[in-house]
Amino acid sequence: MLIKKVEKALNDQLNAELYSSYLYLSMSAHFKAGNLEGFANWMFVQAQEELMHAMKFYDFITRRGGRVILQPVDAPPNEWASPKEAFEETLKHERKVTGLINNLVEIALSEHDHASNIFLQWFVTEQVEEEESANTVLQQLTFMGEAKGGLFMIDRELAQRTFTPPGVGAQTE
Ligand code: FEO
Repeated sequence: MLIKKVEKALNDQLNAELYSSYLYLSMSAHFKAGNLEGFANWMFVQAQEELMHAMKFYDFITRRGGRVILQPVDAPPNEWASPKEAFEETLKHERKVTGLINNLVEIALSEHDHASNIFLQWFVTEQVEEEESANTVLQQLTFMGEAKGGLFMIDRELAQRTFTPPGVGAQTE
C-alpha cells in the first residue's frame, strides 16, 4: 500500500523521467540533423535509458497498489549552439534529477516507507553514473576546443554506445 504523498511524488518522478527521455530524444534529432551520427546515437541510447527509468516507476507504483497518473510532458528545447552546450545542459539536467531523487528519498524516509526507500536506492546509484557519463563527454569536448578532428573522433567513440534492456520487473524485485 502506498501512502498518497509518496504515490504523488513517485508519479511526479515518472513524469520527470519521461521528460528526460524527451529531452535526450530531442538532442538526438538535433545531432542527427547536423550529421553527427555518433552524438545522435549516444543521445538516442540515453533517451531509451530514461524511458526504462520511467517504466521502473510505473512498475513500482503499480506493484505497490498505487495508481499511475500520467501528466503532460513539457516540450524540450530543440536547438543547441554546439555539442558542448548540449552536454553542459545534459550534466545540469542530471544534477537536477539527482536532487529530485534525493528529495524523493527524504519523502519516503519521512513517511517510514522503507520499500520505496530501497527501490529508490537503485536510482541514487544510477545518478552517480548518469552525472559521470555526461561529464566524461563534456570534459572531452572541453579539452578538444573547436578542433574539427577531435569532434570527429568523439563522434566515432559515441557511436559505440549501445542500450541493453534490463528486465524492468526483475530489477525492482
Ligand atoms: Fe533518469 Fe538520467 O536519470
